[in-house]
Amino acid sequence: MFLVTGATGNVGAELVRALAEAGEPVRALSRAGRAEGLPPGVTAVAGDLNRPETVRAALDGVRGLFLMPGYGGQRQILADALAAGVEHVVLLSGKSAEVDDDNAVTRYLRAAESEVRASGLSWTFVRPVSFMSNASALADQIRKSDEVRVPFPGVRTADIDPYDIAHVAAHALRSPGHEGRVHTVTGPEALLPADRVRILGETLGRELRTVGLTDEEARTAMGAHFPAPYVDAFFRFFVDGILDESVVLPTVREITGRAPRTFEQWARAHADAF
Ligand SMILES: NC(=O)c1ccc[n+]([C@@H]2O[C@H](COP(=O)([O-])OP(=O)(O)OC[C@H]3O[C@@H](n4cnc5c(N)ncnc54)[C@H](OP(=O)(O)O)[C@@H]3O)[C@@H](O)[C@H]2O)c1
Repeated sequence: MFLVTGATGNVGAELVRALAEAGEPVRALSRAGRAEGLPPGVTAVAGDLNRPETVRAALDGVRGLFLMPGYGGQRQILADALAAGVEHVVLLSGKSAEVDDDNAVTRYLRAAESEVRASGLSWTFVRPVSFMSNASALADQIRKSDEVRVPFPGVRTADIDPYDIAHVAAHALRSPGHEGRVHTVTGPEALLPADRVRILGETLGRELRTVGLTDEEARTAMGAHFPAPYVDAFFRFFVDGILDESVVLPTVREITGRAPRTFEQWARAHADAF
């Protein structure tokens, strides 16, 4: 049995599908225990990662745990997992955990990794760069207009499809050889925000035009969606340049045996969200 947390999210939903398609028994955990849209044979369970006592029962008989980072109950959930006989935990982390900088994002990812290292469980960390699914944040604008305003217009990133993060996690959960390993994963090409907007336009049959936000405009726009310490962290990464997400790594191919998906593939698969 595998327990997938964040099962209604970008990565978790793909991981539930990947494990189910491989014929594995899966429990899909979210706060509401949503069963809608789950593949046949997958059990939905309700649990709050900030309240470990609500997750404990779902660990019974579990061999592999996929854990979302940064929730308040993590240390206790790991202790409960060890006591329940869980053999391996795969932690969703991020490439920013590599960076030696004290900001809100590196802090919570590094703390999550430290707790897993100290847990006594066998572990794998999956450290993705920015997700292709972040482009969903442009959907409102694209529905209303052909002009798309983007932050950090000059920053090239090799975004990854959550599908590929999930498939790397599925390998780490199901196969030996991933114990104590850190898999930094990227997509296949480093694109500018304007490249992604153009590809979205081609997918939708529209001619979209990119307008780059100034850093000041970006700070205001992001502040509407993220707490200030997170906005500060994004500025450390993409304005101060302490995190290079333009490097394309071979990890997805090495682990899954196939190339990571392109942004064009992601856009086609998610066109109905725009
Ligand atoms: N986006 C990026 O570019 C990026 C890059 C690197 C790393 N990451 C990491 O990836 C993670 C986000 O992954 P994602 O995009 O797959 O997630 P997501 O789509 O934002 O979904 C979050 C998931 O967590 C569940 N959840 C939220 N609060 C919960 C709680 N208290 N207890 C139990 N479940 C809870 C949600 O389910 P319900 O709401 O249904 O309960 C949902 O399934 C973040 O931790 C981030 O650090 C993201």
